[in-house]
Amino acid sequence: MTLRTATAVIDCRALIDNFSVIKKQAPNSQVLAVLKANAYGHGLERIAKTLPQADAFGVARLDEALALRTAGIVKPIVLLEGVFNASELPVLAVNNLQTIVHNEEQLESITDPCLSLDKSLKVWLKIDTGMHRLGIAPQDFQRYFQALTQSNNVHNDIVLMSHFSCADDVQNNTTLNQIALFERTVQGLDHARSLANSAAVNSWPQSHYEWIRPGLMLYGVSPMSCVESNAESLGLKPVITLQSSWIAVRKIEPGCAVGYGGAWLSDKKTTIGVVAIGYGDGYPRHAVNGTPVLVNGRKVPLIGRVSMDMITVDLGEHSTEKVGDLVTLWGDGLAVEEVAEYATTIPYELLCNITRRVQVQVK
Ligand SMILES: Cc1ncc(COP(=O)(O)O)c(C=O)c1O
Repeated sequence: MTLRTATAVIDCRALIDNFSVIKKQAPNSQVLAVLKANAYGHGLERIAKTLPQADAFGVARLDEALALRTAGIVKPIVLLEGVFNASELPVLAVNNLQTIVHNEEQLESITDPCLSLDKSLKVWLKIDTGMHRLGIAPQDFQRYFQALTQSNNVHNDIVLMSHFSCADDVQNNTTLNQIALFERTVQGLDHARSLANSAAVNSWPQSHYEWIRPGLMLYGVSPMSCVESNAESLGLKPVITLQSSWIAVRKIEPGCAVGYGGAWLSDKKTTIGVVAIGYGDGYPRHAVNGTPVLVNGRKVPLIGRVSMDMITVDLGEHSTEKVGDLVTLWGDGLAVEEVAEYATTIPYELLCNITRRVQVQVK
């Protein structure tokens, strides 16, 4: 008997193909591939090594950047939230890491005349054009820009950037307003610019500029909010397929309650399949009855509460499924976007939440 526990099958070919789709949409832009949060749950070093075509990598934490350097990655790496402490700046210089500057504290630290670095740092200056999360106010731009340009600690070729809040919605004018404000703020400067996340790569070509910053699309997931723009229609293929197997298949009678709290009650004779995956593996605890699970080419509904290590599925009275058969929770054949809807979350969260006990199989 060999039963499979929760396994994330990583399709490196799909990653490379998704990169090509992105490149076709923005042929004149350099690509900063966003690898934060363990490459959206896909494995930081693995994804970096599979993407030699990328021009740079973006991470959120210094630890992530250092892990990439330790793994032998020599490409430019940008800290997308900048430094959290001035003491990190010499570490950036030694490891050839680039940083965003988005607040006064970071500006003061990096332009401190007492700071002595092995080499000047490459900076991406982040302007808040409407998301109101990170970034300097447009009216402060000249002051920041001049202070950075005059500092010996900062390399001359500062990249000017911002981030979109609503690019996934093509009907929303916020994106056009953000682009217009960005252009007004940086006009007259001959510096590289960067605005586009995945949704903007896909839908707002006027924002591609010199650098695009896709994350989600790389992993084969649609960044768009409208259901018609699904991954398949965009030519994207899932990089992760999350699988497990039935560890029990059993017949039950009408009136049987299944799982914790007896939260689901059968109204007919049926077959219940128990899959070795649960919230301890990153399967969402809030997935509701009816969340699809893929087995032997058919979608069957999740029933009852998600447990730590198991979920239960209604296979129907005449099911022929056997213990050991493979089950797909999302990925090839079942979009993570669809599962996310049932769990009232977004695909980003499902991908990032896959836990360490899930086996990884690279194909
Ligand atoms: C600054 C920045 N750029 C780009 C991205 C990539 O976004 P997406 O995964 O939607 O392409 C992110 C992710 O949130 C980000 O924070």
